[in-house]
Amino acid sequence: MEPNFIPVDIQLLHPDVEKPFRLYILLGDRFVPYSQGDNFTEETRQRLFREGIRTLHIREEEKHTLHNYMTRNLQGILADPFMSQREKSSIVYDTCIYQLEKLWQAPEAKSIEESKGIFRQTVDHVISSNRDAVQDMILMITHEVSIYKHSVNVGLLGTNLAREIYRDSDKDLHEIGYAMFLHDIGKTEIEHRVLNKPGRLTKSEWEVMKRHPEHGYDLLLREGKLTDESAVTTLQHHERCGGGGYPEGLKGDEIDELGKICNLVDSYDALLADRVYKPALSPYEALKIMKEEMQDQFDREMFKEFLYMLY
Ligand SMILES: [Fe+2]
Ligand SMILES: [Fe+2]
Repeated sequence: MEPNFIPVDIQLLHPDVEKPFRLYILLGDRFVPYSQGDNFTEETRQRLFREGIRTLHIREEEKHTLHNYMTRNLQGILADPFMSQREKSSIVYDTCIYQLEKLWQAPEAKSIEESKGIFRQTVDHVISSNRDAVQDMILMITHEVSIYKHSVNVGLLGTNLAREIYRDSDKDLHEIGYAMFLHDIGKTEIEHRVLNKPGRLTKSEWEVMKRHPEHGYDLLLREGKLTDESAVTTLQHHERCGGGGYPEGLKGDEIDELGKICNLVDSYDALLADRVYKPALSPYEALKIMKEEMQDQFDREMFKEFLYMLY
């Protein structure tokens, strides 16, 4: 059987670090081993750039090796003086998605701890970004049904929004980021058929789905990874300021601020994602609906901060 290849942005390939996978270059319609791959220096990368080549390829079965390589080298990539903040954001985004995918396969203490390291570096990247870079980062986000991507989107949007809201306080953004990225971890305990059902859920399936906040709290507690911040985001990210949310139907100040921040960005990402039963909305359309039809759900001041962050 012909091997499948997946593209790798050459920005992900850290110069002078040994790569535990073989690189291929697309010549015409054939993938050919890339002869410079074993000695991939900054000069190699610049040469490819000059030739207009942005991607090399690896065999699909080496995807996990690539992932391990990316997470190991993220720190070096983020410190690379040759790379723009925009390129770094894109690498952080891809690395987080890979990491979430891996975490989803084995949601236990060891992989949560490993993910925590990646989230920490991601939050450092957010903190080092100025307003323009944050807006670039938000524009780069694509909204899809994928639970990994959704978790990363909520992680990035939630951390950025918390940074705006807590700009004059000493809240720990690393802890907040960790909580946001893991807000839906309880969905790992929802049956695959229900979680990935393309159409609308039946009433009984919906009841199953609505238990994921408590599953998330229980999972983190069981694995010894529950923090104050993750306790409120897992449990309260579907509570609504005006009441009517789940699991507790809390209202207003009964909901922790982090629960409210998480609910806001979670709702925004959900509106922008395309689903079988609803088309994806543009950011403008989503914000209009949030303002006009869902205003009860959100804290008014927080919503203003969110708009300020986006525009
Ligand atoms: Fe959720
Ligand atoms: Fe969510």
